[in-house]
Amino acid sequence: MSDTLPPDPEVRHEEHGEGSVHEAEGPVEQAPAEAEGRMLLEGAPPQATAHLLGTEAAIAVGFGVAIVAGLGLAVCYLLGGQVQIEGALLFFTLGGIGFGIAGWGKYLMPNGPFVQEREPLTSTVVEREGFAASFERGAEEIGRRRFLRRLLGGAVTALGVALLFPIRSLGPNPGRSLSATAWFPGSRLIDENGNAVRPSDLAVGGLVTVFPEGAVGDATSQTVLVHAAEQPVVTHPGREDWSPGGFLAFSKVCTHAGCPVGLYEHRSNQLLCPCHQSLFNVLQGCRVAFGPAPRALPQLPLDLQDGYLVARRDYLEPIGPSFWNRS
Ligand code: FES
Repeated sequence: MSDTLPPDPEVRHEEHGEGSVHEAEGPVEQAPAEAEGRMLLEGAPPQATAHLLGTEAAIAVGFGVAIVAGLGLAVCYLLGGQVQIEGALLFFTLGGIGFGIAGWGKYLMPNGPFVQEREPLTSTVVEREGFAASFERGAEEIGRRRFLRRLLGGAVTALGVALLFPIRSLGPNPGRSLSATAWFPGSRLIDENGNAVRPSDLAVGGLVTVFPEGAVGDATSQTVLVHAAEQPVVTHPGREDWSPGGFLAFSKVCTHAGCPVGLYEHRSNQLLCPCHQSLFNVLQGCRVAFGPAPRALPQLPLDLQDGYLVARRDYLEPIGPSFWNRS
């Protein structure tokens, strides 16, 4: 075996290239798997052997750092996460894997110089055989480094595990929370002082902010109650009984950007949003008369029970900015 190794250890491509290949083609094929990684070192000059072992150790350290950092990234995420720390751990994970792969390819794989003729463009039989031989040498080299191979697998797996955790950030499922409010059938209309509203409390042209029972102050349930007329007002077909005594209730959350719609102009029967001046026509189901709001304010169906104004049910449509389902 020593005959095939170069006398000059400085010529690295001969140590790991052609010289090594000649050496590997003989005994390496019959060698036990445990000893495969050391076959190239047998008979090699001590400096070359030390160099190879040092390189392997450095690559192993790179993969080890990647494993530790990848697992640390997963743990950090589980504990609540910290952007700077997660960034640093991801840097060491990717950096460790990159360092190991680059070192492995540069120092442990068969090296050049490789010369390729440009003409003719089709490969000759000799070239194809040469390529196959070179490929097999590379495959042998990878197969031989079982320890590094396992460390690389561990590093990639640790990174994969860490990358799975952000999936948790997609949850929890909001369910119906985006379209439901605290209004329920029979809920009396409660003003900001906690008093249930009677029809006699609001003169024609008046406006008051109301909430469901048990949810005074709830931002998504806040509703404007206006007394628009003495008689019921039909805003849309099918809503004939939604406005007893000319009382109408609409969501107070503007469908443009969510500002409270709190100004009512009785003479034109319009609600005004002070943020971007959207105007809603109360007698037409609060459809948008002017401004950037993309849709009408949802209407709350009202009824009269025991002398109090009550909700027939919750809103039929989502309240507030309409980014999720409206054009
Ligand atoms: S938030 Fe009401 S118009 Fe913009």
